[in-house]
Amino acid sequence: MNFQEVLDKRYSVRNFEDTPLESEKLASILEAARIAPTAGNKQPQRILVVRKPEELEKIDLCTPCRYGAPTVLIVCYDKTVCWVRPFDGENSGQVDDSIVGTYIMLKAESLGVGSVWVMKFDPAKTVEQFKLPENIVPVAMLVLGYATKDAEPAERHSQRFPIEQMLL
Ligand SMILES: Cc1cc2nc3c(=O)[nH]c(=O)nc-3n(C[C@H](O)[C@H](O)[C@H](O)COP(=O)(O)O)c2cc1C
Repeated sequence: MNFQEVLDKRYSVRNFEDTPLESEKLASILEAARIAPTAGNKQPQRILVVRKPEELEKIDLCTPCRYGAPTVLIVCYDKTVCWVRPFDGENSGQVDDSIVGTYIMLKAESLGVGSVWVMKFDPAKTVEQFKLPENIVPVAMLVLGYATKDAEPAERHSQRFPIEQMLL
């Protein structure tokens, strides 16, 4: 698949088979997350890989959006490691993790693995269930796996504004 095909084919999968994700594919996806650019190259991304059934049950306590997937990556950042903008003290964690999550989705697609980015999770519950230390901030759950045969993109997948509306 060339890069344009990866971009064109990716959509938010919301119906997954329970077929496990192969360890080699997971490793390639994590490698993509590792090489993503981060502000000041501080590399604050921290990722919890959730695959065991009892851990997936904990995911379901935190979000309604696992959609039956067998693998969830909780993409977090370490707030003690992020780059901090000197003018206003804003840290780069959310932005860094957004790039990492995008790399994950696109790498997954290139391997024929479906994904959906999930922001609709309860962060406090996630911290509690997965015993995340105080310095670790969860930003997204990247839900990964194989789409069911009848899975289809939601209607809004193809509803993008024209480029004129995007440009200021
Ligand atoms: C920051 C962000 C948060 C999202 N959160 C959720 C979510 O919690 N649950 C969900 O089902 N989809 C979620 N999505 C998926 C979007 O709804 C989806 O990307 C959008 O509707 C466009 O559809 P497409 O991904 O199929 O192109 C999220 C996407 C982004 C980028």
